[in-house]
Amino acid sequence: MSGNLNTPIRPGDEARVPGHVAIIMDGNGRWARQRGQIRLAGHRAGVKSVRRAIEFAGRHGIGQLTLFAFSSENWKRPETEVSGLMELFSWALSNETKHLAENNIRFRVVGDISRFPENVRSAIAEAEKATAGNTGLRLVIAANYGGRWDIASAARILVRRARAGEISEDDVSEDLVTASLAVTDDVDLLIRTGGERRISNFLLWQLAYSEIYISDVLWPDFDSKVFQTALDYYRGRERRFGRTSEQVQERRL
Ligand code: IPE
Ligand code: IPE
Ligand code: MG
Repeated sequence: MSGNLNTPIRPGDEARVPGHVAIIMDGNGRWARQRGQIRLAGHRAGVKSVRRAIEFAGRHGIGQLTLFAFSSENWKRPETEVSGLMELFSWALSNETKHLAENNIRFRVVGDISRFPENVRSAIAEAEKATAGNTGLRLVIAANYGGRWDIASAARILVRRARAGEISEDDVSEDLVTASLAVTDDVDLLIRTGGERRISNFLLWQLAYSEIYISDVLWPDFDSKVFQTALDYYRGRERRFGRTSEQVQERRL
């Protein structure tokens, strides 16, 4: 286990605490239905879980937490649910900005927010500005986000840059595509609550080598115990990145 300064980061070394955790916060509707309440009541209860998750991530030294709050497909939901979610989003933003600033959290929203109401967009801009200089947890909220949207947007950026003569066709590498995405960091651990085993068009490119933890717990019931179980699961994984287990073990010695 002796350290050699010239040894690059070894697969497995980073397995202690994941640098980037992404969460598909699913199950609010079912949680509400189980209680005979409207779906929006589940979303409201889910805000408390968001707070718990952020607090947990900060306390455990996770570098980035990316939360899926609203997908590009969620516009298909009933109009009352969509507008209720927008109101909730705006309410949570105005309530939480101070808390984010106080806790050294850097807040950012990714997704096409051009369709969002003006008050939500300005609340986002304000929160991003107020926390831009913070150096603690990077909190990223994916709102009207879709993995395919992200990749198509990156392609548009690259075409624009090529047209402007900044880059040539041969410059288009995986690194350059990554740098053009809304989320540029690979996900180490993906958590999905609500039990579904699917990606639902979340971070497609960035999930290429993530560990995946699915919990049957519904999002409003998500707490530090579930988060800790996910971290324990992650710690038990051998991240091989294409290598053999023997190679990974050797590189650890
Ligand atoms: C996830 O919970 C929250 C959003 C998509 C905004 P759902 O609303 O999808 O809850 P279920 O899956 O219907 O239980
Ligand atoms: C994924 O949940 C989106 C969010 C959690 C914001 P959905 O409930 O929309 O996913 P599907 O449609 O069941 O796959
Ligand atoms: Mg759902």
